[in-house]
Parts: sequence; C-alpha cells; structure tokens
Amino acid sequence: MEKHILALQLSHLLGEEFSREWVYSQIEIPKQDKLGDLAFPCFKLAAKFRKSPNEIAAELAPKLKHDIFADAEPIKGYINIFLDQNFIAAHTLKQVLSGHYGKHDFGTGKTIAIDLSAPNIAKPFSMGHLRSTIIGNSLAQIAEHCGYKTVKINYIGDYGTQFGKLLAAYQRWGDEKTVRQNPIAELNKIYVKFHEEAAKTPSLEDEGRQWFKKLEQNEPEALKLWKWFKDASLEEFNKVYQLLGIKFDLTRGEAYYNDKMEAVVQLLKERSLLEESDGAQVVHLDEESLPPCLIKKSDETTTYATRDLTAAIDRYQSYSFSEALYVVGHEQSLHFHQVMQVLKKLQFPWADNMKHISFGMMLQEGKKMSTRRGKTVLLEKVLEEAVHLAKKNIEEKNPTLTHKDKVAQQVGVSAVIFHDLKHDRQNDVEFSLKDMLTFEGHTAPYLQYSCVRANSLLSKGGFNLQEASPSLLDENAWLLIKQLRAYPDVVKTAWKEYDPSKIAKYLLDLAKSFNQYYTVTKILQEDQLHARLTLVYSFSQILKEGLSLLGIETPEAM
Ligand code: ARG
Repeated sequence: MEKHILALQLSHLLGEEFSREWVYSQIEIPKQDKLGDLAFPCFKLAAKFRKSPNEIAAELAPKLKHDIFADAEPIKGYINIFLDQNFIAAHTLKQVLSGHYGKHDFGTGKTIAIDLSAPNIAKPFSMGHLRSTIIGNSLAQIAEHCGYKTVKINYIGDYGTQFGKLLAAYQRWGDEKTVRQNPIAELNKIYVKFHEEAAKTPSLEDEGRQWFKKLEQNEPEALKLWKWFKDASLEEFNKVYQLLGIKFDLTRGEAYYNDKMEAVVQLLKERSLLEESDGAQVVHLDEESLPPCLIKKSDETTTYATRDLTAAIDRYQSYSFSEALYVVGHEQSLHFHQVMQVLKKLQFPWADNMKHISFGMMLQEGKKMSTRRGKTVLLEKVLEEAVHLAKKNIEEKNPTLTHKDKVAQQVGVSAVIFHDLKHDRQNDVEFSLKDMLTFEGHTAPYLQYSCVRANSLLSKGGFNLQEASPSLLDENAWLLIKQLRAYPDVVKTAWKEYDPSKIAKYLLDLAKSFNQYYTVTKILQEDQLHARLTLVYSFSQILKEGLSLLGIETPEAM
C-alpha cells in the first residue's frame, strides 16, 4: 500500500514522463532501519531536470504528504520516507488477522498447467526428479495464492527407445520372480547391464530398436511387459509422493500420445514444415539458430519431441492455459526451445506462453548424478533416513511428545524439501545428507521450531482471536512488523520469477526477526499482553502459511 501511495504521489510530482509503474519499480527498502522505511533514488532524474540528485531529493521531499508518511528526508540523492508506525502496524496486523494477507487476485480466471516430477518408469526416482517435484509443487501453491487455477501434470516417462532396450534386456537376463520382488531396482540393474554389454556387442542396440518397434506396433508380448513395468514403477513412485504429501491432477505418461502423434506429423506436413534429412523427418530451425527438431527417426519411430508437441497441443485444447510451465532441469533446455519454436511455426499463439522452468543439477561431490551408471542416490532412502533422524532427535529432546511418528515424518521430509528450495532455482545443489538434516541454522526444522515456540506462547498467554489487539508496542515490535509487511510482495516476486527460494529466504529472515523479538521482549508479562500475543499470532500465521507455499507442513508441537 505505502509503495503504491508513494509511487502515485511521486509520479504526479514528476510529470507524465515518469509513470507510476516506473516510480514503483525504483522504490527501495533501506538496509538500515535508521534510514527510514522506504527510499526513492533520484539519480535517474538528474539528466532530465538538469539538477543534482541531491537538489531533486531536497525539492521533492517536503512535497510528499500523506497520513501514513511521518517524515520524508533528502539524504545523499535519496528521499528517505519514514512511515507512521502506529498506523502501518495496526493496518498490517489487521490484514494478517483477516486471513487474506499475502493473497493476490491477478491470476483470477486463468489456468496454469504445470508439468512436474515426470520420473521414468523402470528407473529409480532420483534426487534429480525430486527437484522438479518440489519446485513444481511449490509453484502450484504460489500460483493458487495469486488467484490462478492450476493443473499439476505428472508426465511419466513411459515411452521411447530406452524401453526397447529394457525389453531386450529383460528377454536376455530378466527373471520374473526377482523383478516382482523389487521391480525398479531389478529392472534398473538389467538396464545398466544392457549398456555395459552393448558397449562390447553393438548388435544389442539393434535388438533394442527391434523391441521398441514391437512396442510401437502394439505387439502383445511387448505391451504386456511394458504395462507390468509401468504399474510396478508407479506403485513405487506413489510411495514417494505420499511421503512428500504431493498429489497430481493428472498422471499421464508419454505413451498416452502414441496414437495421437500422427495427426501432428500430418499437420507439420500440410504446413510444409517437415523435411527429410538422412531418411529421418525433421523440422528445420535455422532461422531460430537451433539444430533441426527430429520428428521421426529413419526407422519411422517417433521421438521425445514429437510426444511433447502432441502433449502441448492436447493440454491447450483441454485447459486453455494462460501459461504452461515445464519444470525440468537445465539439460533439456535445447529440447524445450525446439518444441516451442516448432509450435510457433505452426502458428499456435499460445506457444509464447510456454515456459521452461529450468533448474540446476543435483550434484554429488561436484559431479552430475546419473542412473545409467547406477550411481543414483535413491530419494526414498534419503527421505527414510531424514525421518529416522528426526525421530531420534525427538526421542532425545521431547520423549513425551504425542504422535511422534507423524511429527518425525513432517520434520524429516520438510528438511529435505527446504534444503532444496532454499537454493536459487537456477543453481546446482550439492547433495549432502548432512546439510539437509542439520536441525539448526537455515533449515525447515528451525522454522518449524520457531512456529511451535510461537504457538506455545499463544497457549500459555491464553490468546484468543476475538480479543486480538492489532497495535504497535515498541521499536522491537516494529522491526518484526516491517518483516511481515514484506510478505505480499515476496509472494508476488516468487511467482513472477517462478522461484520458491524467494519465499524460503524470506521465511528465514522472518523467523530471525521473531527470535530477536523473543530474546529482547518479555512476551508473557501482564501489561498489553494481548497486543504482544496478536503480533506473535500474526507471525506464526505467516510463517505457517509461507511454509505451506513451499509444500511444508508445520507440526503443532515437536
Ligand atoms: N521424463 C523426463 C526425464 O526424466 C522428463 C519429462 C519432462 N516433461 C516433459 N514434458 N518433457 O528426463
């Protein structure tokens, strides 16, 4: 609110050339509290007004007048604004109490399709897929907070030449009983073996291709095995989703598009986009400075790109999305560029609203993790270990806690989620069980514990919402309220940049402010108890809600 008021006044004072949006974008929050609550830098105005930034600030400052501005001071080329703390404090806390604080409505009436998780059947659910799952899930929560409707789509990797290889491997080395006992591990083992053997005996590759062809032609034996592998894999993936507390609106694999691709191939032909190249069918993307997009291989089989093209068209027909997000690692950046460019060439206007939300890799000792070399750390194992450690911690610190197992699960799983989301989306993340599971410092358990501490103050002090008293107490409270004040903008930025780490980092700052407040303030003393508890309650609400935007639950006690 205060930023909007300031932007409106300043843009009036500055004249048409400086729009309200521009002024708004320039407003800063000073790092030091003594420099005020908002600051407007005048440096970019100097050329137009032919005056020094200092002079401009000195002229503008006295002209800024509003009930919520306590003071405006020109300092070193900036106008520093001090807000009326009493007004802002009461206003902020009232908004938090209303339950709508931090929610936006700019997404109302629009749908976002989110492609997330998308593990490959017969392969372990890797830490790499974890990133997609939890970033995608968090983006869906944030989108809904901004008013959008979301469709979370799990585009399972259940098709492609690699399944030909798997079928060939199963024919050679598969044993039904062992696969039934431990499907993913066993299938992955023979898949890895296939690659090792194929390095020595190249004719194996042909065998793989032949099996894929059989699959494409719906031959019963190939189809039966494929379906078995798929069901068994999904059953194992579902355990992970259940642990993470994640649900999808649609689980639809690549194979679903098997009989729908021909129509797209025809469309490409009709528009004269399809060209032959060494026996294969491709769409040239020279103008876009990209390598050609492979649509059909020389043996007539389709590709990952053909399926994504078909799926995108289908998604638009089903949901008329305003944006389609693909939460997939950096390494597929070329693939998505190609798919989007081909859709543009087909003149689908919505192709501009497709976005590859890429993210960094999960590294192990600085190197990429790969399933093919059989080095992957299994996500399920990590989650189990996290929960186990959380349980151990509870046994040590709070042995009489009720629902220990449930709390251990909430805390352990959250530790893993937060470790991922606190990193800037684009950065690589070094996989470290140790860092994830430290229950101090920049971790989910620290945040959850801050919330539990606040809740215990509320129950000790007998807080009740009807008697809430939203008002300012002192300077220490103001610092915490200032943090709460930033929340709606943080949610908006996290959405605009598709980056949940914005929220994760904010919550760490918020909890820090609360813990500082808690250290210097006797919260439970008689005088003005309810005003203090109202602040504590507001803090706990926003922390809890912010964590839920990351897909993290907060236990009542821990
Ligand atoms: N299954 C693929 C993989 O693990 C990711 C699929 C991503 N989504 C998509 N629409 N291509 O590499």
